[in-house]
Amino acid sequence: MDIIEAIESRRSVRAFKPDPVPRDVLQRILEVAVRAPSTDNTQPWEFTVVTGPVLDELKKALAEKMGDPSEFTPDIPFPALTYRPPYLDRSKKQGKMVFQSMGIARDDWPKRMEWYRYMARFLDAPAGIIVYVERYLGAYAILDAGLFLENLMLAALSWGLGTCPQMAPVLHPEILRRDLSIPESKLIVCAVAIGYPDQDAAVNQFRSEREPLDAFARWYGFD
Ligand SMILES: Cc1cc2nc3c(=O)[nH]c(=O)nc-3n(C[C@H](O)[C@H](O)[C@H](O)COP(=O)(O)O)c2cc1C
Repeated sequence: MDIIEAIESRRSVRAFKPDPVPRDVLQRILEVAVRAPSTDNTQPWEFTVVTGPVLDELKKALAEKMGDPSEFTPDIPFPALTYRPPYLDRSKKQGKMVFQSMGIARDDWPKRMEWYRYMARFLDAPAGIIVYVERYLGAYAILDAGLFLENLMLAALSWGLGTCPQMAPVLHPEILRRDLSIPESKLIVCAVAIGYPDQDAAVNQFRSEREPLDAFARWYGFD
């Protein structure tokens, strides 16, 4: 697959087939992903790949804990409650598209809660990856982890796999630390749900929007 095609076709997949993802496929994808650049070639990304009964247990524990946002304790503080325009508008539009795609009404709290629990369960994907970095390395390591993450998600396309980067499973990092023996010295950045996309699922039908380039770019010195 051509690079531009891969970048333009990647999208967050939020419903998966139950088919397991073979370990050697995940291994290959991760080997490709670690070719990402990193600050001073520190390669600070670390990850735990989970599937099968271990993932089932984890999903259960995370879904049970999913609830009151005031109880979330992600390692990287979650800024959603402080969003102002234009970020607030983009975030709201995105949320609306997700819920509309499934016909969940704005005020249908039981259905919304069900969806949040589903997100905490790695969107019921057959495999999950938790990405973390050594805490003291700070912001550059988080940036490097982001580069690794995009590589991972693009590489996954070559094996017909879909992904969703996810904060929902890392909102209670104490559960991940307890069940996966991730030490306090590691800062948990993000999770990734990975599996074969359920192409028919309603939530996989819409495409997220992007602002025109002018919203982001400034140019100097061109003719
Ligand atoms: C760090 C990070 C965390 C995210 N967490 C979630 C999540 O918990 N649940 C979810 O459905 N999508 C999550 N997303 C996916 C974004 O909503 C998605 O990337 C964005 O809406 C753009 O859509 P696209 O990925 O389909 O291009 C996350 C993305 C990132 C980068």
